[in-house]
Amino acid sequence: MPDEKPTLVHEHLPMKLGTEFITAFYRLLRGTTLYDRKSVVMDRLTQECLQVVNGIIQWEGNLLLKIVRDHFFFNNTRMIASADKTLIFKALWREMRKRRIGGIEFSETVTGEHLKELAYLLSGLEESNGNNYLSVEKQLEQRNIESIEVGKLELLKDEDIDGNPEGQKKYSKEVYFRCIGLIREVVESIHHQKPLPIRKAKRLVQNAVNTLLQDDSTLLGLANIKNYDEYAFNHSVNVAIYAMALGQRIGIPKKHLSHLGMAGLFHDMGKTKIPEEILNKTEKLSPEERSILRSHPVIGTELITRMKEWGELSARMMEGAFEHHLGYDMTGYPRLTQKKKMTLFGRIVAVADFYDALVRPRAHRRFPYVSEKIVGMMLERSGKEIDPAIAKVFIHMIGVFPLGTLALLNTNEMGIVTQVQEDTGLIDRPKVCLIYYSDGEYRKDKVVDLIEMDEVSGEFRRSIVKTLDPNEYNINVAEFLI
Ligand SMILES: [Fe+2]
Ligand SMILES: [Fe+2]
Repeated sequence: MPDEKPTLVHEHLPMKLGTEFITAFYRLLRGTTLYDRKSVVMDRLTQECLQVVNGIIQWEGNLLLKIVRDHFFFNNTRMIASADKTLIFKALWREMRKRRIGGIEFSETVTGEHLKELAYLLSGLEESNGNNYLSVEKQLEQRNIESIEVGKLELLKDEDIDGNPEGQKKYSKEVYFRCIGLIREVVESIHHQKPLPIRKAKRLVQNAVNTLLQDDSTLLGLANIKNYDEYAFNHSVNVAIYAMALGQRIGIPKKHLSHLGMAGLFHDMGKTKIPEEILNKTEKLSPEERSILRSHPVIGTELITRMKEWGELSARMMEGAFEHHLGYDMTGYPRLTQKKKMTLFGRIVAVADFYDALVRPRAHRRFPYVSEKIVGMMLERSGKEIDPAIAKVFIHMIGVFPLGTLALLNTNEMGIVTQVQEDTGLIDRPKVCLIYYSDGEYRKDKVVDLIEMDEVSGEFRRSIVKTLDPNEYNINVAEFLI
C-alpha cells in the first residue's frame, strides 16, 4: 500500500471500497459454513478479506458497514450494488439481519486470525436473537480483539423482519399461476372484443414485483421450467418475470419495475390477431405468412392504445410491444426507414423475449437447447439482435447452468441445479440436488454446493462435466425444483 493518499481521489471511491469489502466479507462468512477453520480454503478467503479491510483502514482510517432498512451504508455512503453484485449485497444483508447484527466496525488494522475469529463468531450466532451483538462483543473482548466492534440491528417501526421462506415460496407460485390465468383472460377478452382486465393486471404485476424483491429464485425457477403444455401463456409471464428481475438488477426503481412487468406481460398481445395456423406452423413460412406474423408488434401497439390507459404505463407497454423484435442493430422488424435507438424498456423486453423463445420446447425439438449452447447463442447475438450490456447482466442472473438444469458431475453423480450462486464469480458452480435411481424412478438425494472444496488439496469436490436432456431420462425437473 502506498504511503500517501492518491492526489486524484476517485469520486466513487467509497462505493468501490464498500463493494470490495461486502464481497470479500460475504465470501469469508460463507466459507465458515462450508470449510473447517484450519483449511487452506479458509486461509485464502481470510487473506483476501484481510487485504481489503486493512487497505481500507489505511486509506480511510476506519471501516464501518451499517444496515439501514434495505441498504448498506459504508463509511456513511449509501451503497448501490452494481448488477453483478446485487445478489451478494442481498445475501450479506440477509445473513446479518437474520442474526440481528446491524453493523460492523474496524477502527484499526487487524490480523488474519482476528478476522477469521469474527467470521466464525458471526456465523455461529443463533437466528433472531436481539442480544447477539452483546455476545459477540463479549467474546471479542475475551480474546483481546479491540479494533473490531459489532452493532445491533436497529429496526424501524414498520419493518417486518421475519419473512417465512416456505410461505414465500408458496406465494410466489400462486402469483405465477395467477399471472397465467390473467393472460388467458386477456386473450379471451381480445377474441371476444371485451375490455381488457387492465386494473387486475396492474394489481397482479404489483404483487409480482413485491414477491420478486423478496425472493426472485422461485419466480425465476418457475419461468425456467419449460415443460408446460401451453407455451404461449407461459411465455408472456416468463418474459415479464425475466424483465422485472433484470430491471431490478440494473437498478430500475420499484415503481417502474411494475411498468416493466406490464410491458413484458403484454409484449406479444398482437399475436392474438394472427391466425393459429401461422403461429403453430412447424414448416417454413411463406413470404406472405411471414409478413403476417411480423405484423404482431404493430398490432400489439395498437391494442395497447385501445386500452385507454394513457400515461407513462401505456408508453412503456408500447415500447415493449413495438420494439421487441426491432433488434439492437435495427435489422429486425418492423422495418423502420428512419433509424432510431431502442428504448431501455424495449431492450430489456427484447433480451427476456429472446431468451425465453430460445429455450422454448418445440414439436421438433422436444427439449430446449442445453444451457451452454444457449449462453453461447446469447453471446453470439450480443451487439447484433440484443443489447450486449443487458445480455451480460441476464447471463449473470440466469447462470451458465440455469435452475432446473440436469447435470452430470465429475464424480459420476447426476443432479439438478436448484440454486444459482449469489457470487457471479462462481457462476458455473451452482447448488445441485443429487438424484439417484431406485425402484424404477429417480429420487431426491442431498443438495450439494459445487463451491465446496477439498480442505486439504484446495480443489473443488464436484464440478459439472456436461448437461443432460431430462426427457431422455424421464425426469420431470419441476418436481425437484418446487
Ligand atoms: Fe414477439
Ligand atoms: Fe415474445
